[in-house]
Amino acid sequence: MELRNVQQVDFKNARVLVRVDFNVELNNVSEVQEHFRLDIVKETINYISAFPGVKVALLTHFGRPDGKRNEKFSVGQITMAVERALQKPVTFVPDCTGERVEAALSSLSQNTLLLLENTRFYDGEEANDPEFARALAKPFSIFVNEAFSVCHRAHASVVGVPKLLPAYAGFRVLREIEKLDQVRLMPRRPAIAVIGGAKIETKLPLIRELEKNYDAVLVGGKVANEMIDEKITCSEKVLVPQDFDSPKRLDIGPNTIAYYIQIIKTAKTIIWNGPMGKFEEKPYDVGTGAVLQAMLESEAFVLIGGGESLAVLEKANVMDKIGFVSSGGGAMLEYLSGHKLPGLAALEIGGVL
Ligand code: 3PG
Repeated sequence: MELRNVQQVDFKNARVLVRVDFNVELNNVSEVQEHFRLDIVKETINYISAFPGVKVALLTHFGRPDGKRNEKFSVGQITMAVERALQKPVTFVPDCTGERVEAALSSLSQNTLLLLENTRFYDGEEANDPEFARALAKPFSIFVNEAFSVCHRAHASVVGVPKLLPAYAGFRVLREIEKLDQVRLMPRRPAIAVIGGAKIETKLPLIRELEKNYDAVLVGGKVANEMIDEKITCSEKVLVPQDFDSPKRLDIGPNTIAYYIQIIKTAKTIIWNGPMGKFEEKPYDVGTGAVLQAMLESEAFVLIGGGESLAVLEKANVMDKIGFVSSGGGAMLEYLSGHKLPGLAALEIGGVL
């Protein structure tokens, strides 16, 4: 898949709407818990901002406010965290369409970024309403998508706006595709996947896809319990735990840990999504910790994605020791399952401008 990308554009004097995904967790005093999704847009923002006369506005969703304004989901709360991550002054605009955006853009000073209010405060966002997309696009001359993790959503700010403005992929979106294609299409072998966490309905399509061209798929977490309970059968490449920590099955057991570690040690490519148990609560973090340790010690190229897996990495403070950390949860699963993501299709060369 070849995408139109930011290096093909002259941003001089342009008004650029950059779709980011700052859908981050806050703690109970409204501080950003993980900065990964803020940090990864920096390269693109710096690149665009270096053009003379350019004006840049960042647009994101934040939580699921159901198409209604709700201060609990206001993007305003993360303004300072965005400033710190991007090391530029940021002005928050309490709307994402209309006069307030137009006015903020006209008075915007050099090198300051605009951060627009939550696009999901409007029900036209998730409905992909063309009128709403027009309102989002109106003040701008160019659209950049730097939000791989929302590219599986056919929402107005993801697929509607790129129909109305010249639209390009940011550096991070391109890197996500490059790395995901590397493990999907030409993995070094043995290639294995470790799939855990919850939501079998999102994981099973990936397990089905991986069992076709991967050497082994090691399953743990709630997904494993669901496969066992629902008697879901797969090929012999798909391994479910042989034992658990306890009858409650909150973690994989010692024999399974030993077996999984043995397989991980020989791998040259590993995809990991989802913990092996209820890792956030001791002692159910043992299986996840052992699997992570084995991955770190292996020679494999390790690609990890999904909110819970990211939390595991952050807790263990090993983010920088992983080959590639994907920003996508659902988007990564869908991409690796072989689905065409609507947000990427909207940026394809030869696609509709
Ligand atoms: C995510 O966190 O995976 C993305 O931001 C998409 O969010 P959503 O699942 O609410 O669409």
